[in-house]
Order: sequence, then structure tokens, then C-alpha cells
Amino acid sequence: MEQPLLSTLDPGWGAGDPSTLIPEHAARRAELEALDPALAELYVRGAEVLAGAADAAALKERVVALLGRERGVVTLALAGIPALAPEQKKVRGRGLNLAKRWLEELEKAKRATLEQAAESREALDVTLPGRRPWVGHAHVLAQIRDELLDLFHGLGYSVATSPEVEHEEYNFTRLNFGPDHPARDAHDTYFVSPEVVLRTHTSPGWVRAMEERKPPLRLVFPGRVYRAEQVDASHMDQFHQMDGLFVDRDVSLADLKSTLNTFARSIYGPRVRTRIIPIYFPFVEPGAQLDVACAICDGSGRTNLGTGEQRCPVCKGSGWSELLGAGMVHPNVFRAVGYDPEEVTGFAFGMGLERIAMARYGIPEIRLFLENDLRFLNQF
Ligand code: PHE
Repeated sequence: MEQPLLSTLDPGWGAGDPSTLIPEHAARRAELEALDPALAELYVRGAEVLAGAADAAALKERVVALLGRERGVVTLALAGIPALAPEQKKVRGRGLNLAKRWLEELEKAKRATLEQAAESREALDVTLPGRRPWVGHAHVLAQIRDELLDLFHGLGYSVATSPEVEHEEYNFTRLNFGPDHPARDAHDTYFVSPEVVLRTHTSPGWVRAMEERKPPLRLVFPGRVYRAEQVDASHMDQFHQMDGLFVDRDVSLADLKSTLNTFARSIYGPRVRTRIIPIYFPFVEPGAQLDVACAICDGSGRTNLGTGEQRCPVCKGSGWSELLGAGMVHPNVFRAVGYDPEEVTGFAFGMGLERIAMARYGIPEIRLFLENDLRFLNQF
């Protein structure tokens, strides 16, 4: 070989397999080797660097080095033909024309595959499953509240709300709390000022509603309440209640009982075990408490939480969990709002939403409701 044909091809260029682009590559190579081994070497190396181009820019650079009109190896070799011996001229001329045509074919095939690859990289695969946006859901207490509102709506009740920051007159005095009632004590009540408290129950809503409206009334009062409690597994210093109030002529204790039974069965199912016991609240007479069998220990008062049998921490061993307070509205409460207790009677009840959720789902810790741990919240 009189001139170094391969000298202008960068030896660092990566090689590819030309037969993936042109199936006839092996046959062409054999044909050139038989004709002109030195030229075959140029052709093979040229074909391999074209096949090995990683992108359009690399391909262009390699095509210029091979076939460029001024400095391309093949172009220069063609230009050198006139200086060759006559019998070499024919062979080299034919070989170079073949090599030039085949390299151009390879370039075309390579450019097509590079373009195809770029297209499929940019293309949108409409068959891929979408990424679902994260959607929250109602807190378990909000779910219980909405379920109760639905239930009472069906029994003819409307919703009324009253302030969380409440005058002690409404929180206590007009609800017939005597001036020395222990619940007024600073241990149970968060005072904002000497006369203003964070409401300790949702019952002040009755007073506000009755002052604004005339009987008959059928209302429920959902909301957050506050008590300066020692925090433990079943007590927190803020929780949620829903009071109910029914005022009309001739409302009886039997009406209250049937309403509470309807409520308990709707919330806990038709076979729920409940009991009603007498209890004192200043604003009802008689007063009652509705209990439901403790869901943690199933009414036995004992649990085994993995550390041996022990007293049930939720019902404190009693087997019952207190669900709500209730009773017939005290005549003094009617008097305080200007209703005549000789004309109207009524019943009221008030329930803790945390208690209801705990009893229904077997939740052993009231603090879980406020911690906002998704591992807890996502279970409901
Ligand atoms: N307000 C009472 C409480 O917070 C509950 C209750 C409501 C009791 C209505 C009787 C009637 O404990």
C-alpha cells in the first residue's frame, strides 16, 4: 500500500457492528478483500466507526472524515489514483467507488436508526399507567360526625353551632350550674378571662339556639370542646362532642330512650349491648348515662395486650364505656331562655365523638386522633 489510507481516522472512535445496519456487510467486505486488501481495511474500519456513532453529531464528524469533499479519506484516495501504476488504477478505482457507495448507504441507515431512537425517547407512551395524585380523605372523627349528622337528619334534626370561646354565663350559669359547682373549678376549665372560657361542652349551644328560636326545636350541635384534663389513654384536654336537643309539648323520657336506642343500633349494629343508668348533670332532670360494652375487652374488664393479662386500660376494668349523657331538660334551663316549663318539655343528649370511634374500631388510645400519623389515619 503506497499511502496510509487510514491515517485520518481517529483511532479512539468507538466501533459498532455494521451488519446490524446493512445485512450484506460481510459479503461486501469479502468482495473488497478479494479485490484490494488495503482498501478493504479502510472500508471495514470506516463502516465500523459509522455504525458506532452515538449520535448525529458523531456520525457527521465521522462521515466528514471518510467522505468529506475536501479532506475525506476516500476522496483523497480517489484523488491519488492518477499517480498509481496502470493495472493498480483499475482495481483501486473500482474498489474505491464500491467503498464510497457502501459507506454512503451505511451513513443513511445509521442516520435513520439514530433518528428513530431520538423519536422514541421523546415520544409519550400512552400505554404507561398514570401517576395517581395523592388524595386525602376525611379524618375518622369527621367521618363519625358526618355519619351522625346523617342519622339525626333522618330523625328530623337540623345542625346548629355555637362559639368555642364561650361566656361562662352560657357554658355554666344558664345551664343551671350552681355558683359553686366543681366543674367551674379552674382544674376542669380553661379560662380565657374571668368570664370567658373555652367551652367545656357543646351544651351552651342549646341556650343560644333557644334564645333565638321558639319551640318546637330539633337540633344537633357538633363541635370541639376543651377541658383541663390529666391526659391519659382515654382523656385529652380537647375532644369533640355532639349534643342533641328536642323541645316540644309532651316530650317524654320514652322519646329519649327510643332516640338513644335508634342511635346506638345505627352506630354499633343491631346487637349492641347498652345500659342506661341514672347520673347527675345540672341541666337535666332526670339525668341519664348511656353506656356501651367496652370494645377493647368486650365487656370483661380484662385485657391481654401482649404483656400478660391486666385490667383493661380503656374502661378501667368496668367492662362498660360511657357513651353519652342525656336527660330531660331542666325547668331552670327553660326559664333561663324565656320558655315556660309548664308549656314545653324536652330531652337532650351529648356524646363524645372520640369515644364512639374508639368503641366502634377498638382504638385503645385517644391521643392517636390528634397526632396525625398517616399510619393511623389511613386505616379509616
Ligand atoms: N354536656 C354534658 C357533658 O359534656 C353531656 C350531656 C349533654 C349530658 C346533654 C346531658 C345532656 O358531659
